[in-house]
Amino acid sequence: MTSLLLTGIGSLVTNDPAQGGLLGEIHDAAVVIDGSRFAWVGSRRDAPAADSALDLGGRAVIPGFVDSHSHLVFAGDRAEEFAARMTGQPYSAGGIRTTVVATRGATDDQLTANVARLVTEMRRQGTTTVEIKSGYGLTVADESRALAIAANFTDETTFLGAHVVPAEFADDPAGYVDLVTGAMLEAAAPHARWIDVFVERGAFDEDQARAILLAGKEKGLELRVHANQLGEGPGVRVACELGAAAADHCTHLSDADVDALASTGVVAGLLPAVEFSTRSPYPDARRLIDAGVTVALATDCNPGSGYSSSMPLCIALAVREMRMSPAEALWSATAGGAASLRRTDVGRIAPGARADLAVLDAPSYLHLAYRPGVPLVAHTFVDGRQL
Ligand code: NIG
Ligand code: FE
Repeated sequence: MTSLLLTGIGSLVTNDPAQGGLLGEIHDAAVVIDGSRFAWVGSRRDAPAADSALDLGGRAVIPGFVDSHSHLVFAGDRAEEFAARMTGQPYSAGGIRTTVVATRGATDDQLTANVARLVTEMRRQGTTTVEIKSGYGLTVADESRALAIAANFTDETTFLGAHVVPAEFADDPAGYVDLVTGAMLEAAAPHARWIDVFVERGAFDEDQARAILLAGKEKGLELRVHANQLGEGPGVRVACELGAAAADHCTHLSDADVDALASTGVVAGLLPAVEFSTRSPYPDARRLIDAGVTVALATDCNPGSGYSSSMPLCIALAVREMRMSPAEALWSATAGGAASLRRTDVGRIAPGARADLAVLDAPSYLHLAYRPGVPLVAHTFVDGRQL
């Protein structure tokens, strides 16, 4: 293994509590990468020797973004639906079925190419870990192939057969739940770490969600939930009751939901690119943080409710619209995402952690929100390798 010294780091965000403050920021810092791991982190003047060195000329370095929620396995797009929303139509989960038809009609190669294109976009914007869901196949064969394709890009694969009830089961939703908890789960489980349910009016109700999540748990999958996106409802409650890792969206929450998230430690995933793209009110991150809830920021990148692959955009929106400080937003986009995925090896820059980071063409992480829309990520390192 060869070691690499990154030096001349004007500002280094470590997310290491041992370094002090929420972000564990070190000025005039250096980092040593040994193979795929961080070996040393500290002040430049104390840096040890390494096999090679790269001077970053005062740029900022942050942990790679951990995007804990995306739907990248699909075909086609829904730009027309977006345009209609921008002239007054509401977002409806019914649009998911349009993408289901396109996805079923696509070849494996076409779906793989689409995921590759979006993962490349993400990497260029500093994302180093991404969760990818199925959910646009909704047959046994189409869900398992979506997960097999996703697994070529990430270990964080999520079975979302319970995205909506597909058209052919419109008159038999109970039959669809039986399929999801039976043959579909059987075929999906070998390719998935997680199981997820879209708990919402027009998608799955409380009892259906409980049945699906418990069936997944029985198969060894861990739980995540799409919760309280379009209105108040049982999603957060079910996620907390069943010990899910994350309840994502959390746009419409009762006080009891906030208390349940805080007391159970279920991570609230906030997805502001969705509110941007559906022109809906943003979730109130301040209310959650002040109640002691762990918050993650993620893109939810999908062709319907929000087609952005950009964690920097999510940070800018969270700061501008959701009452998060720039430090809180960066923490939630890195360490918060890691907590959402129950990962301790990513989301921080500390000895032993996976050597994932983003170099910013900026003197400080503050520029992520301060300069919205500007491509500030100069280099991304994954597993110790510069992309
Ligand atoms: O997370 N909420 C459910 N699923 C996606 C939207 C998918 C779509 O509209 O295609 C989401 O927002
Ligand atoms: Fe989603």
